[in-house]
Amino acid sequence: MFPAAPPRPPPERCGGQTGVITASVDLHCHILPGIDDGARDLGDAVEMARMAQADGIDAICATPHIRHDHDVRIRELPERRAELAAAVRAAGATIAILPGGEVAATALAGLEDDELDAVSLGGGRRWILLEPAPGPLDDRLDASVRELGRRGRRALIAHPERHLAPDLAARLGGLIAGGALVQATAAYLLSDPTRDGMRVLARAGLLHVLASDAHSSRAGRPPATAAALATLADIDPVGAHLEWIARTAPAAIAAGSDVSPPFAVTSAPHAAGPPAGGG
Ligand SMILES: [Fe+2]
Repeated sequence: MFPAAPPRPPPERCGGQTGVITASVDLHCHILPGIDDGARDLGDAVEMARMAQADGIDAICATPHIRHDHDVRIRELPERRAELAAAVRAAGATIAILPGGEVAATALAGLEDDELDAVSLGGGRRWILLEPAPGPLDDRLDASVRELGRRGRRALIAHPERHLAPDLAARLGGLIAGGALVQATAAYLLSDPTRDGMRVLARAGLLHVLASDAHSSRAGRPPATAAALATLADIDPVGAHLEWIARTAPAAIAAGSDVSPPFAVTSAPHAAGPPAGGG
């Protein structure tokens, strides 16, 4: 159904880890210090890692912005992750720091295949965290998902709650039918004004994984997902699949494996409400 994955060697692992991850993975986190609008410095980043580990997260994909307004140099990312992983270990934490990137749809065409590999989630060379252009989703995002498919990748659509519009659910349904999965920002399930709209999307089977999209230990969204996950427990169809949402799907994505939701898109409701900021 989906494009075949390209042949690939074993994915990179920072912190000395190898093999398939079977634990909770935060697939969207701006934890690399001093590189985009994320962690301010190494101490901030280490504290983010400690907070995530305390929340039950075992690995974080470090996903700096790959976007024209951030000077993130992809070739430098392995060294930056290794530096952070060493600091995390020195602080006594065991959480792993994995490859990743938040790839703006507007930047996709300018990336070579080896660059896409380098920013793939978990280094698995299969899944790309794809940031839609600001504003309502439109045909350009469908085109980006198709381009990724032609290049042997699949898209994890970042933070749909930032793109609320009357046709959001229908748009997401189309993207999912085309092989994408959807990452919601955990914190927006916890408070108004975004909570109700997020629950509407969950009820429609349009959210697949939760991630923190945290930028700092000191302000903004925390590097945590557990409390938000718990709020999904009473929502059909996702509530019966919390283990898949929390662990199975993120682990597969970080390992570069294909994974299909155990629940279907149930409807295409209107998801009204103010857009959420930050990202
Ligand atoms: Fe982000």
